[in-house]
Amino acid sequence: MSAYVLRQGLVVGESSSLVGDVFIEDGLIREVAPHVQCAKGTLEIDAEGCWVGPGLVDLHAHLREPGDEAAETIESGARAGAMGGFSALVAMPNTEPALDNPALVSYVLDRGARTPLDIAVAGAITQGRRGELLAPMAEMAALGVRIFTDDGVGVQDPSLMRRALVYAKPLGVCLAQHCEDERLAAGGSMNEGAVSSRLGLVGRPMLAEELMVMRDLELVRLTGCPMHFMHLSTGRSVAMVAAARLEGLPVSSEVAPHHFTLDEDSMATFDPIFKVHPPLRAAAHVAALRAALVAGQIDAVATDHAPHAPEMKDLPFDEAPPGMLGLEHAAALTYEALGADAADPLIFFSLLSRAPARVAQLRASDHRPRHGAHGGAMHAGEDANVVVFDPAQRWTARRDALQSRATNTPYDGRAMFGKVRALIAKGELVVDDGALR
Ligand code: DOR
Repeated sequence: MSAYVLRQGLVVGESSSLVGDVFIEDGLIREVAPHVQCAKGTLEIDAEGCWVGPGLVDLHAHLREPGDEAAETIESGARAGAMGGFSALVAMPNTEPALDNPALVSYVLDRGARTPLDIAVAGAITQGRRGELLAPMAEMAALGVRIFTDDGVGVQDPSLMRRALVYAKPLGVCLAQHCEDERLAAGGSMNEGAVSSRLGLVGRPMLAEELMVMRDLELVRLTGCPMHFMHLSTGRSVAMVAAARLEGLPVSSEVAPHHFTLDEDSMATFDPIFKVHPPLRAAAHVAALRAALVAGQIDAVATDHAPHAPEMKDLPFDEAPPGMLGLEHAAALTYEALGADAADPLIFFSLLSRAPARVAQLRASDHRPRHGAHGGAMHAGEDANVVVFDPAQRWTARRDALQSRATNTPYDGRAMFGKVRALIAKGELVVDDGALR
């Protein structure tokens, strides 16, 4: 393996930061100190002015393989993830067929192992994600699966969700819920409110999300099984999960960059690029999510990276599938939401690396045989999954510069604040000087 030294960046630990060098050799962080002397042959990477922290961890990446390789593959998704500064991705199970059994989980783990990143798998809670019968979660957990979700849809039946939680608890895994009551959201393709009325589009009400958050918080209280609440989009949803966490319930939350950067007014373009589930909300909720990020009321930023082939996103609004790309822009959008120049690097790495690594059980203490450790403290001895983020770099997002196979980004032409300069994943330099090696 190789040796690298990251020179003179702000090394962001769990509770404090210091300017110094990080020496990496044979897959491990060997030394962190104000000045490190290293042997000839060590590749020097200038990190001056940059934040050097644990590689980012995405709890929510749709990699589309197997079944929709026209949109993304595990390999292209890993490239997109690397460009975004991620050293680990959790692959969502709403593939075709769904990742609801050990054979398919093994397939994705094996393909993931051939990429430069760590690809963890989320298994389905129910067979075929149909919300009728439980999937063999114990068999998938035996392969190392630690998160289960039917994402794309939530588990609608409360008694089935209760049984899933009871079944999951002794396995030491976490259930992740896509919170939308499908009956309340039925037929809707944007947020329900004055804007949807004016545009003549059927809406998905905020209550569809909030009611399922309420229901599932009570199911967690009843069963004691950990639950992660995915892509929350309303101020009230976030506040409810934050309050439950303060009460001591084993719950965590994520928000997606699109929900804290875009609002329902984008729908006036009738461009399906903005269609997503849960939908973009009113500006007041975008502001509430941004405030909650800064205030530490949200555990993680997760991308909900949802590639779709161009011909699918070109369908009429009501027929186009929901979802937009996320991996390559999440770090910059989070930095901007945290206040750009005023952003706190500790919060940045908590939201994008340390908390998601905890939820996905990818930390060193979690002992995952098929994966390295992520979300570390930047101490000697840790696995070398390290990102160098340049907060001063200003750039413009370009659709044609994406590594993803798909192009459905809503951010084409948008000014971005902060850029991933380098990524070391699984001990190797994957991104150097802002480009894949
Ligand atoms: O907009 C979405 N797209 N939301 C989801 O939950 C699923 C995702 C997808 O798979 O395309």
